[in-house]
Amino acid sequence: MAYSRIVGTGSYLPKKVLTNRDLEKLVDTTDEWIVARTGITQRHIADDQELASDLALEASRRAIEAAGIKTEDIGLIIVATTTPDVVFPSTACILQAKLGIKHCPAFDVQAVCSGFVYALATADLYLRAGQCECALVVGAEIYSRILDWKDRSTCVLFGDGAGAVVIKKSDTPGILSSHLHADGSYHQDLGVPGQVCHGGVRGRPFLIMDGGAVFKFAVKVLEEVALETLDANKLGKSDIDWLIPHQANVRIIQATAKKLGLDMSKVVVTVDRHANTSAASIPLALDLAVRDGRIKPGHHVLLEGVGGGFTWGSVLIRW
Ligand code: ACO
Repeated sequence: MAYSRIVGTGSYLPKKVLTNRDLEKLVDTTDEWIVARTGITQRHIADDQELASDLALEASRRAIEAAGIKTEDIGLIIVATTTPDVVFPSTACILQAKLGIKHCPAFDVQAVCSGFVYALATADLYLRAGQCECALVVGAEIYSRILDWKDRSTCVLFGDGAGAVVIKKSDTPGILSSHLHADGSYHQDLGVPGQVCHGGVRGRPFLIMDGGAVFKFAVKVLEEVALETLDANKLGKSDIDWLIPHQANVRIIQATAKKLGLDMSKVVVTVDRHANTSAASIPLALDLAVRDGRIKPGHHVLLEGVGGGFTWGSVLIRW
């Protein structure tokens, strides 16, 4: 039986840091409000010339180095992004060119904040099906470009960044299972409705959301998909060594941990420093916890995401 295993992680955050105090000068908000409602204290913002593929490239180089592979070993590239460099070609193809490799399949996955979980699940199935031996899976986002910086209800929530993993075919699991879901009836609750049309933009090209609806839905499905995953693997809540949820709001993360009976010491939290980096948030948090030694061989690591669509899903890993 073929499995896949994560053999290297990497991440990248743009140099510029925007603190809540900086935001106080842009919109009618306070550090106290943002911290109390979201847990966020700062976020990284990409340079005006940087593209999602640039952030992806840095994160990928670090993951490739950690994996100890050559770039030409990569047989598949999947980039999860909601903020691609251009409408087309895909950011994955642009990343492939920047990495200097040819011929392997490369495509983007658009599942918003669940994008990385969708991409990792897809790459795992490719490897298990014998389609390739080694894949690069990336989440890369520049949300600062799709925010209305005059709208205090949204602009304080997001940041830019990228995270990447290299997965390789393995005789032992690795990735134990993945569980993906979507309910498109919620597509109007969270999105960027603007369309590129006849040389201009038709509709609002900024992020809009029903914050309360997103909050409630996120807490509900993050619990449900965690239980579904444990059940599928005949594991209990106490078997989770590390929960790495999508980093949207520390209150969503705390509510999820409470429902799962998990102490917050078992949850990787980066939203305080990174804000919500959408598809990049899970691989950024994973890389941090791998590199600081929290995640150790044999640990069960549960990744779970939820985002626009709505989409949600999980990947359970035995490290
Ligand atoms: N600073 C100060 N006041 C603000 C700000 C701000 N940045 N933003 C909104 N307010 C005000 C509102 O205008 C409102 O004022 P009012 O009572 O006078 O009308 C008041 O604060 C309360 O607003 P609420 O929206 O009720 O605040 P709430 O406690 O629900 O928190 C928040 C809002 C943080 C957006 C919350 O609903 C949330 O986190 N939702 C989840 C949304 C999310 O994470 N989206 C990310 C994308 S989806 C994903 O990644 C899963």
